[in-house]
Amino acid sequence: MEMDKLVSLCKRRGFLFQSSEIYGGIQGFWDYGPLGVELKRNIKNAWWHDMVSGHDELTQLPGAPSTYEMTGLDCTIIMHPQVWKVSGHYDLFHDFMVDCRTTKRRYRYDQVRGRWANAKGQRIFVATIVETAAEHEDTQRRAMKFFKLRAKNAEQLEFEDAFLSLTEIENMHDVLGPDAKELGTLTAPREFNLMFKTIIGALAGEEGTAFLRPETAQGIFVNFKNVLDSTRVKLPFGIAQTGKSFRNEITPRNFTFRSREFEQMEIEFFCHPDDSSKWYQYWRDRRMNWYTALGLAAERLILREHAEDELSHYSTGTADIEYAFPFLPAGEYGELEGIAHRGDFDLRSHMEGKLDPNSNPLVLELDEHGKPKHRGSGKDLSYRDDLTGEKYIPHVIEPSAGADRATLAFLCEAYTEDEQPDEKGNMQKRIVMKLHPRIAPIKAAIFPLVKKDGMPELAKKIYANLKQHFNVFYDEKGAVGRRYRRQDEAGTPYCITVDGQSVADNTVTIRDRDTLEQIRVNVEEVLAEIRSRIG
Ligand code: GAP
Repeated sequence: MEMDKLVSLCKRRGFLFQSSEIYGGIQGFWDYGPLGVELKRNIKNAWWHDMVSGHDELTQLPGAPSTYEMTGLDCTIIMHPQVWKVSGHYDLFHDFMVDCRTTKRRYRYDQVRGRWANAKGQRIFVATIVETAAEHEDTQRRAMKFFKLRAKNAEQLEFEDAFLSLTEIENMHDVLGPDAKELGTLTAPREFNLMFKTIIGALAGEEGTAFLRPETAQGIFVNFKNVLDSTRVKLPFGIAQTGKSFRNEITPRNFTFRSREFEQMEIEFFCHPDDSSKWYQYWRDRRMNWYTALGLAAERLILREHAEDELSHYSTGTADIEYAFPFLPAGEYGELEGIAHRGDFDLRSHMEGKLDPNSNPLVLELDEHGKPKHRGSGKDLSYRDDLTGEKYIPHVIEPSAGADRATLAFLCEAYTEDEQPDEKGNMQKRIVMKLHPRIAPIKAAIFPLVKKDGMPELAKKIYANLKQHFNVFYDEKGAVGRRYRRQDEAGTPYCITVDGQSVADNTVTIRDRDTLEQIRVNVEEVLAEIRSRIG
């Protein structure tokens, strides 16, 4: 599937719009349209139901080391700045970036690639940020332009073998930046913290500085004790949260895949340190199965264990669930969700030390190893087992998913083109979004075949009845074939048609979006039929 086709369908049918589009848009921010908001909400609801509200804490689930409890939270986006100091985000959550002095563009250092080109006795490194599939053409075109070569003397240009990362290039003077026309316009790499800053109250300056959360996880850790004290929850248990997170990504790209404002669906699962490896295994499998149950093809998903040097500062083991997004070159995958073994890093960090009320929380203090000093709350965040009397700091397994990435993956997976006969039997190209019925924005559309003979009245009655249970849509305009096509593009799994026979015998047809099979059922059975098919 070509990504352009999906992007255009998303705009045309109201799944996704660029934020502030009438002002030219703003990079890295996306709005969900009328269909998109339903789709994303259904995904988040499915996650919340399957992981939290529908979780059966009395039954040991397959693969789980024991039974466990699940509960939820909804925390603020802006938290005490000390949270981010203690979590490590203030000091360590950064990317390296390079700026172009002439175009004023900024690039993530590790995302710029390029290759050495030789012509007219000069050797230059032609840098690019276009996708791997197109980088050959991009560097060739720009090198030709730089050396002022025409197609007829293209043989004067020679490229050295491999594409390299900019991080491997020692001398920036030889680099032709991704959008530059001259050499040496890129700055040396600099650290860039990804947290968005804001000001609380009327205080300008450092005292009023706060951050938009870059992850929802910290709200859970700082409320760990509150949850223990206000519920009768016992270890092992998980606390879940969905909500917006913000990261000032240097190069947002690939539609919503890397955005600056996005939504996360995170679980912090607290367990005894001795059991943490088993729980890590359990959550990796559990989360992988969730995506396939909702329709992602197993052959387009992988579970990738992080190498030692890839692990975040808090993690002793992380596996990513990755999906073969169509904007990536064949064989490459993009992260949907990370499942991290965080050990006791977070609770211990928030617990240790004591905040000095006179110190500026944003001034970095290093320990003798040059690492940021922990200055936590000084509160006891350990757990005491009432049965054994053992007191310990729980270990944490964190399945952390992105709601927008999941939505994008489901959209990519659903996009299908096929050919179907129209009313006259002529084959017509059809675009159909094969979304799983559970997450489809509209569950069923109701059509009177024609706008007369009592058909609209009966169709409206069915609509009013179903609307109390699901999101359904009524449409009486235009040829019925065109109405089917519109619903196929919206991903609506079932179309209910009221025809001449319906008025006579109180039956309607239900058309299945994927098989195109039509069955006739009594009007009284429509609700049960649709409900059983949605699952
Ligand atoms: N609490 C751990 C954590 O935040 P992460 O791997 O940085 O881990 C978790 O993020 C998930 O959040 C990712 O797997 C991805 O689905 C989503 N995510 C992260 N950055 C994102 C971005 N810039 N745009 C969209 N989704 C993002």
